[in-house]
Amino acid sequence: MPLPLLKTVGEVAHLRSTHDLYDLHFHTRHSDGLARTADAIALAKERGVTVAITDHNVIGGALEADDGEVVPGVEVTTAERIHLLIYFRRKADLRHFWDRNIAPYRPAGASALTPVRRSAMDLLQDLQPYDHLTSAAHPFAMAKNGWMSVRTKHGHILESLQDLDAVEALNGEELDGGNERTAALARERGFAVTAGSDGHLLRELGLVALAVPKGEDLFEVVRARTGAVVDLRVDGAWRRVASHAAKAPYFAGAPVRALKSLLP
Ligand SMILES: [Fe+2]
Repeated sequence: MPLPLLKTVGEVAHLRSTHDLYDLHFHTRHSDGLARTADAIALAKERGVTVAITDHNVIGGALEADDGEVVPGVEVTTAERIHLLIYFRRKADLRHFWDRNIAPYRPAGASALTPVRRSAMDLLQDLQPYDHLTSAAHPFAMAKNGWMSVRTKHGHILESLQDLDAVEALNGEELDGGNERTAALARERGFAVTAGSDGHLLRELGLVALAVPKGEDLFEVVRARTGAVVDLRVDGAWRRVASHAAKAPYFAGAPVRALKSLLP
């Protein structure tokens, strides 16, 4: 792991006096999560964490929060199936970017998980005028990124993305091996790192986080690699089973959404 890793409640409690915690990857019911934005904000406050709302390709959940309540973001599935996490400081910037660079490239009838017709490289170019931060989520997650992209192309794509700020070196849903490969990629290729629960259930919120020294700017700390990574997940397969089960209602609705897309 390129940054210090804290894994016990005691270690994290000690860290809290000097650092703020950010869970940089969380989904609401606007994509395939179960949480309401308001509930995520309330729980984040209770747990002493700032949460980034990063729904798949849609931004309704992030827009429900006021500026300063969450990190407004989006997890864009690019044409090559990179999951590109994009963060902004203000939701007006998120909305402006999404309206111009995501919405027009979503296929008609797209579900939240349908890839947009835009490459990661093009999106990184589109982002240049904005105050933003980017990270490639779980780049070695075969099921999410496509097995071809993971095993053959993905490493090359990441290497070619000069404007990418970071890779997500700790994703709460990813297998340990995938996280380790991402951390190795960061070390070898000089990427900064981010961390997030990738939670789809409220209970996952804040269990994976990036610790940022108090008073310092999140985006700058990521780029300068001066934060620390927090992993408070319990070990075991049940954790992933519970998280994936949370998405079941979303996928159960897929035939209905497909049918609606065929109707006038
Ligand atoms: Fe995600």
